[in-house]
Amino acid sequence: MSEKSDTATLKIDGQTIELPIVTGSEGDRAVDIANLRARTGCVTLDPSFMNTAACYSRITYIDGEKGILRYRGIPIEELVTKVRFVEVAYLLVHGELPNEEQRRNFSALLNRHSLLHEDMRHFFDHFPQGAHPMHILSTMINALAAFYPNVDLKSLDADVELSCARLISIVRTMAAFAYKKSIGEPVVYPRHDLSYCANFLNMMFDSPIQPYQIHHDAVRILNVLFILHADHEQNCSTTAVRTIGSAQVNLYATISAGISALSGPLHGGANQAVIEMLRMIQEDGDVDKFIRMAKDKNNSFRLMGFGHRVYKTYDPRAAIIKRECDAYLKRIKYHDPLLDVARRIEETALTDPYFVDRHLYPNVDFYTGILYRALGIPENMFTVMFALARLPGWIAHWKEMAGAGTKIVRPRQIYIGKTEEETSGVMANREPQLLW
Ligand code: SDX
Repeated sequence: MSEKSDTATLKIDGQTIELPIVTGSEGDRAVDIANLRARTGCVTLDPSFMNTAACYSRITYIDGEKGILRYRGIPIEELVTKVRFVEVAYLLVHGELPNEEQRRNFSALLNRHSLLHEDMRHFFDHFPQGAHPMHILSTMINALAAFYPNVDLKSLDADVELSCARLISIVRTMAAFAYKKSIGEPVVYPRHDLSYCANFLNMMFDSPIQPYQIHHDAVRILNVLFILHADHEQNCSTTAVRTIGSAQVNLYATISAGISALSGPLHGGANQAVIEMLRMIQEDGDVDKFIRMAKDKNNSFRLMGFGHRVYKTYDPRAAIIKRECDAYLKRIKYHDPLLDVARRIEETALTDPYFVDRHLYPNVDFYTGILYRALGIPENMFTVMFALARLPGWIAHWKEMAGAGTKIVRPRQIYIGKTEEETSGVMANREPQLLW
């Protein structure tokens, strides 16, 4: 292979300039155009940033061609078998897995900040019945700024420890409260004697008339799902967090924006959309018809849970979730007909040139909903689960962005609207405005 150069040559308007090529620790390369406009008067154009690196980052590495995902250099395949979600949250935010003392302190902090301010509990009474939990969550998180002091960028490290714990813990309580409110049941408070995931399941399903039986297997599955969703470098919602955070918006409002971005059906909302799609296909019975619709450019139907901007092979998270799906449903002797439909779709699509040629494989959302159903999580809470898991990733990126003294994010554009001569005369027959 030819020696890789460390500069790129650009010829423009009779001028030749050399641009530096930067190389990441895993060999990913970028042409650094930081002073392109100053030197040539030109900017680059890359709608949806499909070819643009927005920043340097040390948090997560993805190789979309090889199906690799690592948090702080550790493969997810190792993390899901050897540590719990709380330790992965610590790893993402602080850069290293916690030692025993750090883990104990972090767990104590999560416990201490697991209660919602009692005044906030009453907010739930004023959401309309049937309000989507993602809308409730983004509103409630925004309101945290009214109850808790803003994270002070100057005392970032100490504040982040506290704010990270508060967000990860309180948001879990908020999510469970939102669910209980939606079914008209009394809320269940967090317990000091339960782990993060066990506490969440207990707050969701315990009730005064039917105590919830906490099963180790379900708690393990939830840890695996949360770990797999914890971060994914510069995805849409993380980019929203880094963008809004760059204006020095308080952390709670910044995370609230991330929640809103994640709720989109092309992003985190896909896990709920997948189950709705599988159910529709199951009721219709004709999988091939829907495969044809997904391939038809004149049809807006898309295979939800399929395709990815970065992965051009099987999403490594989907592979793990699919394995866990098969094993867990067998262990609890639970047959979900939607899993049969999902398997049929995957088998059909992965032998169809349309999907193969476009490198469209199952992504993280394709099998996730099947596992959430087996855990008893209602469909309108699926994207909330994604948000709970993604919180440490968002916080880690916000901290990295804030800590790097990032300038406010403000991209340029190429204007293609009307010119002044095209609008000259439009105002000519208007008299000066006298009455304002
Ligand atoms: C997440 O970015 C992240 O990291 C996100 C995420 C994370 O952890 O944060 O991984 C989480 O958001 C996963 C993705 C969840 N969304 C879905 O499952 C929705 C269904 N997927 C598609 O909408 C789509 O694949 C996207 C949005 C995921 C990616 O879209 P891209 O990168 O813009 O790709 P594209 O639309 O340009 O598609 C390329 C081609 C097109 O066909 P051609 O114009 O080349 O003929 O593939 C086709 C598309 O029509 N295509 C699909 C398809 N996805 C892409 N055709 C049918 N069904 C699909 N699902």
